[in-house]
Amino acid sequence: MAATNLIGTAVVEVEHKLPLPFDESQESFELIAQGAESLLYRTTFSATGQPAALKVRPEKKWRHPTLDKRLTRARILAEARVLVKLSGEGIVASGSGNSGKRAKVKQPREGDHDVAGLKGFVPAVLALDWESGWMMTEWIEGRTVKKAVYDTKTDRNGDNTTEATEALKSLLACIGEVIGILHASGVIHGDLTTSNMMLRAQPSTPESIASPTSSLAGDIVLIDFGLSSQSVSEEDRAVDLYVLERAFGSTHPREEYLFPEVLKTYAESTRSGMHGKTGKLVLRKLEDVRMRGRKKSMLG
Ligand SMILES: Nc1ncnc2c1ncn2[C@@H]1O[C@H](COP(=O)(O)OP(=O)(O)OP(=O)(O)O)[C@@H](O)[C@H]1O
Ligand SMILES: [Mg+2]
Repeated sequence: MAATNLIGTAVVEVEHKLPLPFDESQESFELIAQGAESLLYRTTFSATGQPAALKVRPEKKWRHPTLDKRLTRARILAEARVLVKLSGEGIVASGSGNSGKRAKVKQPREGDHDVAGLKGFVPAVLALDWESGWMMTEWIEGRTVKKAVYDTKTDRNGDNTTEATEALKSLLACIGEVIGILHASGVIHGDLTTSNMMLRAQPSTPESIASPTSSLAGDIVLIDFGLSSQSVSEEDRAVDLYVLERAFGSTHPREEYLFPEVLKTYAESTRSGMHGKTGKLVLRKLEDVRMRGRKKSMLG
């Protein structure tokens, strides 16, 4: 839609039309984030009334329509497949009568799946339609890890306070554990950054409000699995960690020196599925991956 502003120049208003069956006149859709490929809204899942995150992948007019449809479908399916696998849910085609392109999630029965222990560490899928390009998941109350790290307390010199450093260390340790569990389940995230992790808010108590480190308390929830894949290769696991290491260093340069906490827990914590020999092999591979990264940047 084009309009004109006060000085008469044309202003292009970007129109975010929601795909069917969503209707903005019936429910509220709050735009939370707008990435290159997708729009993220906070809304309500009509079947249960619970808060939900709706991820819409609109058509890209600049891409060939057949290719665009194929890519959208692949991203939505990659994301949903992994989330369903990790949260141990089943997925069934709804009665839409159109070859199951729209699906809703059924609750798991015991023994249905090899539940990997990540239930609660990823959002549950509520519904999706890969032809229209959307997926709805459980809403995670809280902040992204990026925001949580930005919000940590610093002293007058701009350094993290001692309490904040300790809290950051345990946050990074939790991240290492969760990635370990993820990798042990045979999944590679593909885009690990602090924006693709959330810190699930904990109900506040009078003690937690008084505590200087309470702001970093809570469970880690991994989101944004659109680039995920299934692999148990040490190389793929090392690359996944390397992507996070690089992203963490550039997003949080002041906290970069604490990143080894992630790797330490990844390979040592007994809760992480990667503790022991395999974890050590992945860290050794990570050194090769870093070396290749350095050579590549030297060659430009
Ligand atoms: N389930 C959720 N609950 C609460 N907030 C969410 C949820 N999923 C996403 N968000 C918020 O929306 C932002 C964007 O989501 P996401 O990372 O999935 O999309 P994206 O980066 O645009 O995706 P893609 O890279 O696949 O195109 C997140 O950084 C987070 O702030
Ligand atoms: Mg993202």
